[in-house]
Amino acid sequence: MTPRDFLGKDGYGPLTPMSSRIPGFYRLGLAERRLRLAQAAGIDAGAMAALESGGLDETTADGMIENVVGRYALPLGIALNFRVDDIDYLVPMVIEEPSVVAAASKAAKMVRAGGGFRAEVSRPVMIGQVQICDVADPDRAARALAAAEGEVLARAAGVVPGLVARGGGPVRLEARVLSRPGSPDGGMVVAHILIDCCDAMGANLVNSVAEAVADFLAEVAGGRVGLRILSNLCVHRTVTVRAEVAEASLADEDLDGGAAADAVAAASRFAELDPYRAATHNKGIMNGVDAVLLATGQDWRGAEAGAHAFAARGGGYAPLATWRRSPTGLSGELVLPLAVGTVGGALHLHAGARLALAILAASSARDLAKVAAAAGLASNLAALRALAGTGIQAGHMALHARLVARAAGATGDLVERVASEIAALGDVKPERAREILTRLRVELDTGPVSLRIE
Ligand code: MEV
Repeated sequence: MTPRDFLGKDGYGPLTPMSSRIPGFYRLGLAERRLRLAQAAGIDAGAMAALESGGLDETTADGMIENVVGRYALPLGIALNFRVDDIDYLVPMVIEEPSVVAAASKAAKMVRAGGGFRAEVSRPVMIGQVQICDVADPDRAARALAAAEGEVLARAAGVVPGLVARGGGPVRLEARVLSRPGSPDGGMVVAHILIDCCDAMGANLVNSVAEAVADFLAEVAGGRVGLRILSNLCVHRTVTVRAEVAEASLADEDLDGGAAADAVAAASRFAELDPYRAATHNKGIMNGVDAVLLATGQDWRGAEAGAHAFAARGGGYAPLATWRRSPTGLSGELVLPLAVGTVGGALHLHAGARLALAILAASSARDLAKVAAAAGLASNLAALRALAGTGIQAGHMALHARLVARAAGATGDLVERVASEIAALGDVKPERAREILTRLRVELDTGPVSLRIE
């Protein structure tokens, strides 16, 4: 099923080409934002009602996991300005951390000015692992498994006929020797069954195949079946996303564009040279990736596990994204293993995830992977640009000031006015916000009153 089918299923209405630019979106109230979003995404405004329950009713929640006692909500925001391979996307993000959505939108605008993100997605091939223990002759076992590839793939295909009919299914068998007899682990071989999962994330498909063919593999290898499970290090299922950013887009009042580009490139080198920095650099990337995955009902823990194992595949721990100086600014690239699906998983049950996918209007798992990765690269660029300049706290403070202003009761234009006053005073507290709000309201009221007297 594609997002188009979800639209039909939930009655969202037809997909229309959309623009991801919605100037002034953040200034609208929440209800107005939903309406504006529905218009921009070409979704029936009534469908947004799913968000009022967090996209999940209690009965459905009770059927999803065990011992349910309630539902747990997080904010769903929309990152703007995203353009990937010449298509605009409104990007749903679920995250508890302030600034991430605003920062991703800001960086996406910088990238958009240079033509937008470019992405490449590999074939969606996952690895199913079958551990074979007590193998007397592991090298002979590896050769025997290679010889039996055709038979294994045929048996595996029989387990997932629907997938094969959709153009996917088992594509290759690989065997690796992990240890030899005489070592503490004895003779151990692992067979990898590679499976094209089409638009599914694939965990259930891959695990079913691994379990079904394990006995035959062990027989061929002359050993005993151990674990049968997918690998989250899905090195065959990767997404690469690139961005060009002009110096002019990086400039602000504190730093000119050239200096900002130099500083971002130096920040990238820092992460390449130092695993302590690389961990935080990658955390910033996953802020963007995970938020999109969470919004669209994906297994973000699997993506996290895969991303960090991939970052460590060279023996050290490396940044997933790098930035280099280009003649006109910066060139950035992110490579990430990413298993996502637009069919199956939580999407069957979670109306909010289905709505998020409809807002994103990704027509396939490939598109979803591209956009999630673009959100990762945008988050990384925003973090490095902020860190290279005044730091991230100023942005946090501005957002925090808006939150405090809203909490004090400010709405509409008053949010910005109260927020900028408390931020300028360096007193971002509810009492001060209420005081300023009262004053501004009096000023607003006395205007029309004095006009009437005249
Ligand atoms: C905070 O959530 C993420 C950053 O620490 C990322 C980074 O340092 O690159 C700002």
